[in-house]
Order: sequence, then C-alpha cells, then structure tokens
Amino acid sequence: MQKITTIAELRKTVRLWRQQGLSIAFVPTMGNLHAGHIKLVSEARKKADKVIVSIFVNPTQFGVGEDFESYPRTEVADTEKLVEASADLMFLPCTLEMYPNTASTTITVGKLSTIHCGAYRAGHFDGVATVVFKLFNMVQADIAIFGEKDFQQLAVIKKMVQDLNSPIDILGVATEREDDGLALSSRNGFLTRREREIAPKLYQALCQAQVSVIKEMDFNTIEQEQKAALEVAGFKVDYFSICRSADLQPATERDNELVILAAAKLGKPRLIDNVHFSKK
Ligand code: PAJ
Repeated sequence: MQKITTIAELRKTVRLWRQQGLSIAFVPTMGNLHAGHIKLVSEARKKADKVIVSIFVNPTQFGVGEDFESYPRTEVADTEKLVEASADLMFLPCTLEMYPNTASTTITVGKLSTIHCGAYRAGHFDGVATVVFKLFNMVQADIAIFGEKDFQQLAVIKKMVQDLNSPIDILGVATEREDDGLALSSRNGFLTRREREIAPKLYQALCQAQVSVIKEMDFNTIEQEQKAALEVAGFKVDYFSICRSADLQPATERDNELVILAAAKLGKPRLIDNVHFSKK
C-alpha cells in the first residue's frame, strides 16, 4: 500500500492509473478506523481496480467546543488495518496541504445542511461538503463510498454531487453494529463503562419507533415517547425525527419511504443513528 501526504504526489499516481485504464474507488475518513470503515473499504474493493482511502481530521467541520483536539488519531493502527483490507493508497494530507492560508471558498448545500444535526452543529455540513468536494477533485475517483450511519451527511453529499454535476457515483453502505446494536463509531471510545451499557438503547428506540410507525401510530406521539424514554435512560436528546428519506423533511402518515433520525448526548460523546425503511 502506498502512503501519500501531498496532493502533487497523489495526482501523479492517479494519472498513472488512469493511463493504464484502471478505475478508482474512494473512501474518505477521519481515521481511527473500525469495522464500519473497513466495510466501506471492502465495498470499494468490489467496485474498482484501485482503492484510495483518505484520513484527514477536518478542522472546518468541528464547531467551537467540539472534540477536534481530542478526536482520536491512530495512524499506525489505521495503516495496519488498511493493508489488511487491501487498500492501494492511503492519503494523509496535513492541514496546510488541505487548507493553504489563501483559501476562501466554501460549499453550502442549502436546506439539507441546516436541519437535524445542522441545527445543532452550525457550519458542520459546510465543512463536510467543502472538504469532500476538495478530496473528490484531488482523487478523481469513479465512485465514492459513504456510510448510512451518517445518513444526513450521505444526503448532503449526494445533493452536492447532483447540484454541481460532479462526475462521481456515490454509494451508501449499511451501518456496521456491535452485537448489542450500537452503531460503530470513533466516538464510542469516549463512553464510560456504564454509558456503554446504556448506549444500545438509542438503536433500540429507533427500532421500536419503526415498529410503531408500521402499526400506524401517530408520528408525533412516537417521537415524544421515544425521546422521553431515552431521557429517562440518561441521554440528552437533540432530536428524534421521523422523516422522508428523500429529503429528510418531516414525514406524514401518507409517506412510505422513511428514515428515523436521532442524535443524543450520552455523557461526553454525542451519538447519532438512524433506521430507514419502506412502510409498504
Ligand atoms: P468518519 O466519521 O471517519 O467516517 C468515514 C466514513 O465511515 C463515513 O462515510 C461514515 O458514514 C462511515 N461510517 C462511520 N461509522 C460507520 C458504521 N458504523 N458503519 C458503516 N459506516 C460507517 O464521516 C466522516 O468521517 C467525515 O465527515 C468525512 C466524510 C471523512 C469528511 O471529513
């Protein structure tokens, strides 16, 4: 596996592969890789001749007081995992390589960026969209793979690619979970032992809500009941919303393609998760 830190060197390798007629799949990450990330790499492996994985803890998507400084950085372990997963190239740019002091352009993906997580993390999705667009321009892949765990992020990226006519396919991959249902996340490591025992209740609440939706219970009642149950369990719930999966707007009982999105703090970390399903 090649390890590259500069855009110039990355472009050189990509150009060589292109000359050989090879296709490229790309998995952007912030590192501290777990089985969820590796699942994306495995999907990438199936989709193209070459697989590029980026690791960059992107400062512009963290708000003031969020965990940018404490975000886990585990390059040695990440490298081993990517070798094991047969990635071809690991791209590890430094902050100045990604953001020279002269940069002044930001991408905003309209309404999708300001609801749900966007309402609690001002500027977060602008940071995500901008860094992903920059990475797309650097990597020039045929396909990029994202996790459905970050359902709103995936929707933002798909919309950006559509609106800006980016020549890349976007593939979403199902969330990888612990045996007890907790979605794998780099932030799970911040949970205390007691919090770790409580954490699976977030996914349980989403699954219960899905059952209630299918039983045609009132959406508002479902949301309020699950929110209250999570609060009793020790979560501080930001939102728990039954939405249309196409545009993440509040669903009505007539909608069929649904996603239930939730975000809640449990001690230090903020956990997000979702279930998406067809009501029919
Ligand atoms: P990061 O949190 O490292 O996640 C990288 C990719 O892994 C994302 O597409 C995310 O949805 C996916 N992922 C995380 N946990 C997962 C799980 N349990 N199952 C399946 N996939 C999972 O998301 C980011 O980084 C950044 O915002 C980034 C897109 C790299 C831009 O900086």
